[in-house]
Amino acid sequence: MLSGTKEILLLTFILPVVILFIYALQLRLSKNKRRNAVFRRLGITNVDGKSLVGFFHPYCNAGGGGELVLWTAVAFLQRTEPNLVSVVYTGDTDATKDAIIGKVKARFNIDLSPDSLHFVFLKSRRLVEDSTWPVFTLLGQSLGSMILAWEAMHKLIPHIYIDTMGYAFTLPVVRMLGNIPRGAYVHYPTISTIMLERVKSRQAGYTNSGVISSSPIFSKGKLLYYRIFMYYYCQSLKEASFIMVNSSWTQAHVDAILKHTDTLLDSLHCLIPFKLPGSVGQTSSIETQIVYPPCETREMAQFPLKNRERVILSVAQFRPEKNHQAQLFAFYELLVQHPEYRSGPSAVKLVLVGGCRNAGDFSRVKGLRACVKDLKMEENVEFVVNAPYHEVLAWLARASIGLSTMVDEHFGVNIVEFMAAGVIPVTHASGGPLNDIVVPFEGRPTGYHATETLAFVEAMQTVLAMLKDEEIAMRSRARRWAVQRFSREEFEKGWEKSGWK
Ligand SMILES: *[C@@H]1O[C@H](CO)[C@@H](O)[C@H](O)[C@H]1NC(C)=O
Repeated sequence: MLSGTKEILLLTFILPVVILFIYALQLRLSKNKRRNAVFRRLGITNVDGKSLVGFFHPYCNAGGGGELVLWTAVAFLQRTEPNLVSVVYTGDTDATKDAIIGKVKARFNIDLSPDSLHFVFLKSRRLVEDSTWPVFTLLGQSLGSMILAWEAMHKLIPHIYIDTMGYAFTLPVVRMLGNIPRGAYVHYPTISTIMLERVKSRQAGYTNSGVISSSPIFSKGKLLYYRIFMYYYCQSLKEASFIMVNSSWTQAHVDAILKHTDTLLDSLHCLIPFKLPGSVGQTSSIETQIVYPPCETREMAQFPLKNRERVILSVAQFRPEKNHQAQLFAFYELLVQHPEYRSGPSAVKLVLVGGCRNAGDFSRVKGLRACVKDLKMEENVEFVVNAPYHEVLAWLARASIGLSTMVDEHFGVNIVEFMAAGVIPVTHASGGPLNDIVVPFEGRPTGYHATETLAFVEAMQTVLAMLKDEEIAMRSRARRWAVQRFSREEFEKGWEKSGWK
């Protein structure tokens, strides 16, 4: 009887491990055959010293900010590393290699060579979609990404693996099946530090819908769920040998996650006979490195700096967090303090350029217009809704001041664009605009920050009253800084320094 139980235990624990081990061994043994097949398909006959760099990017054809980073990196490798072939693991099974290359050219104006680029098409991308996991979405998507990475490694094990979409849970899978160097470019942490804080302080009291917030048992359960999730997320990230992050905001969050410890879960872990992701309980020694995504600023950087109109420009989607209301109040206060700005030779205008995505946005614009009317500023405020890009550029070429009031913005491409265009930024003193973008250059300011309405007014007034020489110098400084700091060249330098090779 007793020995029977033992055998069952042995079978349930040991057998899967043995099978997994044999499977991984077999994969690793056959990996060169598959690698060589890729080289052959690309017409590369001499494979000596040639390596495959795998980019895990299941949505490589989406055309967003994450894809800009991916394709800039691939194009960079193609230009500078003749011995490397880029492999992109994607779930875009409906697209062909040529179609993807064509779209990258049209969308980002990036030229990719088909000769050193290979695609591995993944069938199970559905598993990382949130619609697949109506409950326990985070967990489901993470497990899904592990299966997807499994499919990827099953099809081809590269020489280096880079996750460029934020699927940290793929890293332990890649170690287990491929045992190759690996790293990640992180745009956004899967689990935020806010969740981390709740986990740390073991307190409920976050916003939850219905059942969960009203039931202490569910609340505790959810907390435990986050806690376990955070633990494994942290362990997975530590599997990377290099980590790039897209901004100081993301860096702060990822660094906090890497430092996360959970003694209880660590000790529970020791009870399990085999560790899942490695390095349990160690604090990570990886240093994350900021590599800003490249911003396209070439055209704006040609706009003249002289003779700017007295236009205060806001470029932001009409979303609630952009806080357009605060812009109207600050502008109103400016007009109160300087009635001469209402009309005549020193008249000042506020122009709100932005997109409306849905009915909510349109009704927000309606509300803002009503507010302008109430404050009797119709003559001085103009709305430009859903304008084509060339019209946005035209405003950037004319304006003096670029206004942004969003609190804790993660980055702020619009502010980089202000600066590249020679528009002096006045932004909220928080987030990316404070820490990454509007920072001193050559020891002098490149713009202004404010928190309260009156501080915004003061900053705008400072720019409006600036001496001509000083003004041109600041515009030029802001431009040089933004163009250089957020350029493609800077991105490539950061990529080189990250230790990815
Ligand atoms: C980093 O990625 C996040 C998520 O996609 C995005 O919101 C943020 O603007 C990005 N930062 C930069 C510097 O592009």
